[in-house]
Amino acid sequence: MGRHAFSKEQIMSKKEKQEACQLYIEQEIDAGLEEGKTPYSIGKEIAGWIEKLFEVKVKPTTIEKRAERIRNINFPTNVGNLTVDLSKEDEQAVLKTARQIKTERRQTRTRQREEQKAETIKTDPPLEHGNYELVQSDFREHKTEPNSIDAIITDPPYGIEYIPLYKDLSLFASNVLKQNAPCVVMIGQSWLEKALNYLSENLTYVWTIAYFSPGKSTQIFSRKVKSNWKPVIFLVNGNNECEHISDFVNSGHYDKDHHDWGQTVEGMAQLIDRFTIKGDLVMDPFCGAGTTGIASLKSGRRFIGIDNDEYAIKQSATRLQEIESGRSL
Ligand SMILES: C[S@@+](CC[C@H](N)C(=O)[O-])C[C@H]1O[C@@H](n2cnc3c(N)ncnc32)[C@H](O)[C@@H]1O
Repeated sequence: MGRHAFSKEQIMSKKEKQEACQLYIEQEIDAGLEEGKTPYSIGKEIAGWIEKLFEVKVKPTTIEKRAERIRNINFPTNVGNLTVDLSKEDEQAVLKTARQIKTERRQTRTRQREEQKAETIKTDPPLEHGNYELVQSDFREHKTEPNSIDAIITDPPYGIEYIPLYKDLSLFASNVLKQNAPCVVMIGQSWLEKALNYLSENLTYVWTIAYFSPGKSTQIFSRKVKSNWKPVIFLVNGNNECEHISDFVNSGHYDKDHHDWGQTVEGMAQLIDRFTIKGDLVMDPFCGAGTTGIASLKSGRRFIGIDNDEYAIKQSATRLQEIESGRSL
């Protein structure tokens, strides 16, 4: 060890020091692995040298993990007591099989959860129209059963005058959502920071999803930006117990036929698919013309939509009735 050391005098800036340190770690891991050392001993050894040479502390376990990764890719792989040499092609095949196994396990877990859900639905209080309910109300005044909703997926108005609603939404969601259930909120970029701060008051922030809308950009003159995407904020009511998700949605074609601020069913369906399972009770407290509801019913979920605008609720009712007449859970 220390064969590729850089003298302290050679290291000028902080950036150069970091780069040299990274390079040193890579080289020493490779050398150590070739010499047959274990990732554990490499981690301990290199961490000591780094502190001496670069006056930087790196945890031995950090280096150990990196050495393990490099060993798994470049060096013979241990399979139980066997050691096998994998060619690049074999390695690809092994990784593909591993991915398939993971997917199958996830599908099995989802199927089991859906079966359990089908049992519990039988005892749930019925919704007004069987699989859905629409309410014309300010969401803050609606008496939703506490701890009864499997997911909130919603698209509130984005203007600065509406931002205080995000504070109320956070409190509302923390009351009505089940423990650890997701709250997925589409937001405009302009007041993102304020909205996110409010939302995180009672919920736990997990991630931001990019909701991409192809075609003509939206001009945000005040910020001098042409925009083709919106953040969708993913929070949970407690801890994140959702499956792994992809953080990109392509909303498909532009759809303002039913509501001036309407989203596409394709886009909302991707969110429904990622955050809920069949039979789940989805709520949209800003349902507009009911796009979240359409996507929910089409994929076997149940739905409660709230909006304080009479016309929006009428639009939702017409669209949901149409879907419901051709569907059963
Ligand atoms: C962006 S739109 C939702 C559009 C919907 N995603 C769609 O695809 O049709 C927001 C909706 O929130 C409603 N809204 C605004 N303030 C509200 C409040 N306090 N309670 C309930 N609904 C409200 C508006 O009437 C509007 O229909």
